Amino acid sequence: MLAAGPAFAQKKPVAERVDSVLALMTLEEKVGQMNQYNGFWNATGPAPAGGDAATKYTHLRNGWVGSVLNVQGVEEVRAMQKVAVEETRLGIPLIFACDVIHGYKTLSPIPLAEAASWDLEAIAQSARHAAEEATAYGLNWTFAPMVDIARDPRWGRIMEGAGEDPYLGSRIAEARVHGFQGDNLGDPTTMAACAKHFVGYGFSEAGRDYNTVDVSEYTLRNVIYPPFQAAKKAGVATFMNSFNTMNGIPATGNQALVEMLKVDWGFEGVLVSDWGSITEMQAHGYAENLKAAAELAALARCDIDMESLAYVQYLAALVREGRVSEDVVNDAVVRILTLKFHLGLMDDPYRYCQRPGSWEPTTSPWSADAQELAEKSAVLLKNNGILPLAKKQAIALVGPMAQEKNSPLGNWRVSSDDFTALSLYEGLVQVRGEKRMTVASGPVFLKGPISFPFEAEINTTDTSGLHAVIKAAREAEIAVLAVGEHGFHSGEARSRMSLHLPGLQEHMIREVLKVQEHVVLVLYAGRPMILPDDITEQVDAILLAWQPGTMGGPAMANLLMGKRSPSGRLPVTFPRSEGQIPLYYGAYNTGRPGPSDAVFWSHYGDGPNSPAYPFGYGLTYSTVTYTATQAKQMGDSIAVQALVKNEGKVAVDEVVQLYTRDHHSRVGVQPVRRLIGFQRLSLKPGEERMVNFSVTADELSVMTSEGERLFEPGTFSFWVAPHSAAGTPATFDWK
Ligand code: NOJ
Repeated sequence: MLAAGPAFAQKKPVAERVDSVLALMTLEEKVGQMNQYNGFWNATGPAPAGGDAATKYTHLRNGWVGSVLNVQGVEEVRAMQKVAVEETRLGIPLIFACDVIHGYKTLSPIPLAEAASWDLEAIAQSARHAAEEATAYGLNWTFAPMVDIARDPRWGRIMEGAGEDPYLGSRIAEARVHGFQGDNLGDPTTMAACAKHFVGYGFSEAGRDYNTVDVSEYTLRNVIYPPFQAAKKAGVATFMNSFNTMNGIPATGNQALVEMLKVDWGFEGVLVSDWGSITEMQAHGYAENLKAAAELAALARCDIDMESLAYVQYLAALVREGRVSEDVVNDAVVRILTLKFHLGLMDDPYRYCQRPGSWEPTTSPWSADAQELAEKSAVLLKNNGILPLAKKQAIALVGPMAQEKNSPLGNWRVSSDDFTALSLYEGLVQVRGEKRMTVASGPVFLKGPISFPFEAEINTTDTSGLHAVIKAAREAEIAVLAVGEHGFHSGEARSRMSLHLPGLQEHMIREVLKVQEHVVLVLYAGRPMILPDDITEQVDAILLAWQPGTMGGPAMANLLMGKRSPSGRLPVTFPRSEGQIPLYYGAYNTGRPGPSDAVFWSHYGDGPNSPAYPFGYGLTYSTVTYTATQAKQMGDSIAVQALVKNEGKVAVDEVVQLYTRDHHSRVGVQPVRRLIGFQRLSLKPGEERMVNFSVTADELSVMTSEGERLFEPGTFSFWVAPHSAAGTPATFDWK
């Protein structure tokens, strides 16, 4: 047992210390560092063959496990670490990983919702809080942030990212990495982050999770890679392979991809497979058996095998047979040990077990910020003036989400406790009191209990409960309908063909509209949803709450009651119809953009091209006006500006967005608009502000398919605008 011995304890540079540990290791022990097991409960994927608890414990004692996931709580962590440290020959400590996605027990809004805040500081702080809480439960590695750009709302994991845009996605990737990791990984209140899923996972065909991905090199370089590069630049400690194929080769076995990551981009950290993504190379039809999969993954420089049991069974043999060089193994082990040193585990394996804590999510030290972010994330989609609600109105609070305490937590909350969110009802009681409020949830929404590993089954036939909703709505002065999809309707493996409100909800809304003319929808969702036109037209207001986390109830109540004006902006386009998907603002113009009287232009015969709500969109309780954009040369850059004024009577936070269009590009055609900057500002009633941006040639440059960054002078338009479909542009000739 050398844990306290000279090899680990000396105060030499990390690289030297890593080498001295490596020199002590047998081949099996090295391969062991590359093996990651799930703990024995809380699985976040299917159990692999041979992965029973007894085998895993034996492997752990043999020193054949380097890290684990889903082992949580200081007692469990300490117990397992003790085996690694005291019972294995070298006593190398384990890393403890978990999907800490938007909080640990105190949950912020889901990541897509957080992105709607466009508030990078608040987003970084949310990740920081998640790390503070998770590390107190013994963890030191999170599989977050997911930085996959996603343009298909059928894909359930759209909830886990920052939406459709590479610029916003990159800024949020940086913020999250900084938040989780802080400035120093050795600080036991920070944890290693993981940029996932490398790469292209967000482009699963037809929005079906785990499906084939087929994208061009041009899209990869200009849309999909940027957030990964931003995460790398921000110092992210780890990357994760994606499940999908890229150019016909599973990402986990894709040497070209990883060469780009580790050589061209210079990523020196750890690359972990996704859960079982090594073994899945067999089902993809790439590897003929698990041993071949182990070989292909090792050659593609996947450093850690998460739950495929491929490396632990075959990698040492592959090295001995000369099929995989031991240098490959050494390189992986150096990366893994370096991370262990940086996390401080090699000096003190129990470093993350020192401040065990347990907090009530709604009163924890992080709950106030979680609420604030939920308030900043909600997007007001429609308001004919009915919001904010008057204080003394008689309200009927109805619908399946009215009293929900579980769904607002979303899908990705492996560690949180069920039913710990404050419901909208509880929030309204807190903020306005319970007088003159009747509550009715309506028809049963889900047929049975639902949880992470099970499909959500929805009631589509049993209307009992509807009568109570109609009665409450009729007797009130206003109906607040809390509707949406359940938290477990989005997330991993939760793709949907229909983006309409599931179950009987559309029927319920129409029935309520027959008896009550004042209707506000509060929409809970993990993805863009589609509301039929007749509903959108008839309701007075729509507030998109997303899945707002632990404190969603009071947050939405504060917005509904006007304690704060909504300020969220959509990080993703909301289509009118599933038939438009993928629909995103940064599309190319095509050769036939139209509109035209003749039929031969790029359009649908049965509906408009335009979305229901464009990227960047969101209303406030005020009116904010923008003057036309102005652009002029200022030295090496272009100064772009517009005067932004709060014309209304309430203070607002405005997200001022800067878009550009490069009218002709020989590098490759350019999007009709591209976000290149934004500022979130607070404006008092009547306040006006000149909002300035400085644009450099670099920001207008484009990646070629071959990976070269080029700037071509020419004609550019700029919009300083409240969303991607608004604003008056300035055109500028860059000579
Ligand atoms: C599979 C998911 O794709 C990945 O994002 C996650 O980190 C792992 N499971 C571990 O739970």
